[in-house]
Amino acid sequence: MTREALCAAAIQAMGKAYAPYSGYKVGAAVLTTDGKVYTGCNIENASYTPTICAERTAIFKAVSEGEREFAMLAVCGGKDGLITGAFPPCGVCRQVMAEFCPKDMPILIVTGEESHTACTLGELLPYAFDTNYIEK
Ligand code: THU
Repeated sequence: MTREALCAAAIQAMGKAYAPYSGYKVGAAVLTTDGKVYTGCNIENASYTPTICAERTAIFKAVSEGEREFAMLAVCGGKDGLITGAFPPCGVCRQVMAEFCPKDMPILIVTGEESHTACTLGELLPYAFDTNYIEK
């Protein structure tokens, strides 16, 4: 799958966002190492804190289906679903990514309907606290 196709999947998922409080619609798509795509959107709540981000929706959908290995993630967002620039992953989503994704995994941050910028998870969350610090 191309980077552009994963970004397009994130943009499509943004259409399902439930964001009546902030108005910011967000979409994400995560690619597994065996080529499957799981998408997610943000889902807000009247009590605010139960809100879940698009990235975590996508990752949790995949993990709950048994997926454990990921190759790439794309995210997009904007007010009323209008993409006017980058909408990068929040810290909590970065931490969830660090649980399942390799440090060199590309994160595609959509910047427009047909453009994105890319960085690695390690760049987004350096010196991450991850499973290596926990005795099992
Ligand atoms: N949001 C995401 O879905 N992903 C992020 O990484 C950042 C924030 C959502 C949460 C909330 O519904 C809205 O964007 C505004 O913060």
